[in-house]
Amino acid sequence: MDRQRMVRKQSAAMLVDNHGREISYVRLAVTDRCNLRCFYCMPEEGIRYLPKKELLSFEEITRLMSILAPLGVSKVRFTGGEPFVRKDFMDLVNQVSGIDGITDVHLTTNGVLTAPYVGQLKEAGVKSVNLSLDTLDRERFKTITRRDEFDNVMDTLNLLTKAGFKVKINAVVMEGKNIDDILPLVELTRDKNIDVRFIEEMPFNGEGSHYPVLTWTYRKIMDYIKLTYPNIDKLKDEANSTSYNYRINGHLGSIGVIAAFSRTFCGTCNRIRVTAQGTLKTCLYDNGVLNIRDLMRTGQTDEQIRQALTQAFSNRAKDGFEAEKNRGTGVGVSESMSTIGG
Ligand code: GTP
Ligand code: 5AD
Ligand code: SF4
Repeated sequence: MDRQRMVRKQSAAMLVDNHGREISYVRLAVTDRCNLRCFYCMPEEGIRYLPKKELLSFEEITRLMSILAPLGVSKVRFTGGEPFVRKDFMDLVNQVSGIDGITDVHLTTNGVLTAPYVGQLKEAGVKSVNLSLDTLDRERFKTITRRDEFDNVMDTLNLLTKAGFKVKINAVVMEGKNIDDILPLVELTRDKNIDVRFIEEMPFNGEGSHYPVLTWTYRKIMDYIKLTYPNIDKLKDEANSTSYNYRINGHLGSIGVIAAFSRTFCGTCNRIRVTAQGTLKTCLYDNGVLNIRDLMRTGQTDEQIRQALTQAFSNRAKDGFEAEKNRGTGVGVSESMSTIGG
């Protein structure tokens, strides 16, 4: 079956790419701005932010979601930059949650501005919140994020768990920065029903790779944890999960590792990304495959945009390595995660 037909045939119920993978999850970066300067994401001096008119407007985002939902996209994750840095962000959450067919709304946040909105997130039906937190030590938090916001993030964590949210903590593992935090973060799962996920660092930091080779791979992270916690059980991972999940005997919460750099989960990848400026990425490692914003701003109809999207979905790279290679020689990955949304 040719690629175009394969996508079209399945489109009434389910959108399938040219490698037979269902596409049901979109990650929406709502801004490229952030109130932290995390070592793994941006250089200390920050990045050149986009002028507001270059961002997709709320109307453009809801229009896009109304085109994607009937194609089979049911899960949305809001990312950034930091989503709460965008003015009136909760209005967008409510608008997108109200779209027919959007059944799972999630958020990834750094937790600095989030605490006052925990009640509204619950009311909006947001199903889970992933919180970026790489250390439990205030001084190391300052070094890694280059900002003194640890207490606000911890307030957010406490309020989220109190409000009954499913919470996943994302901790990027960095040689020389937070190795001493791995075990304290694992300890958090003893009495709290949260998932702590350790992530391989990727070179999306706005300046290029920090190391000649990645030493803290998902295998090394797990081996390290097992030295202290030998009684650990593998859990059944959710379909399309980015993490391999485990539970330490007697702990309420779970731990996970995300092989983001090793890219072991591409075979079940169900996600696409839309950057803050409206660029479609069908893989985290690609260079952007479609300018949705320009299609909208040059008067294309919903049907024309739908066709352009399905065409892009039928040309996806088979994995993150192929996508990276397709960026062309010498290009490499050096953009900031803040512009991509993770
Ligand atoms: P769930 O929906 O809870 O499974 O979350 P998630 O893992 O998709 O999202 P989150 O925003 O919490 O991202 C956690 C880490 O996984 C970040 O470092 C992301 O960059 C990384 N990640 C998420 N999706 C992908 C992906 O498709 N490919 C790669 N290589 N990494 C990803
Ligand atoms: N490598 C791995 N993960 C990263 N994140 C941001 N930058 C990087 C990177 N360079 C993670 C953050 C955030 C998620 C969306 O992406 O931990 O929680
Ligand atoms: Fe999907 Fe690309 Fe991530 Fe692999 S690296 S899981 S193909 S986004």
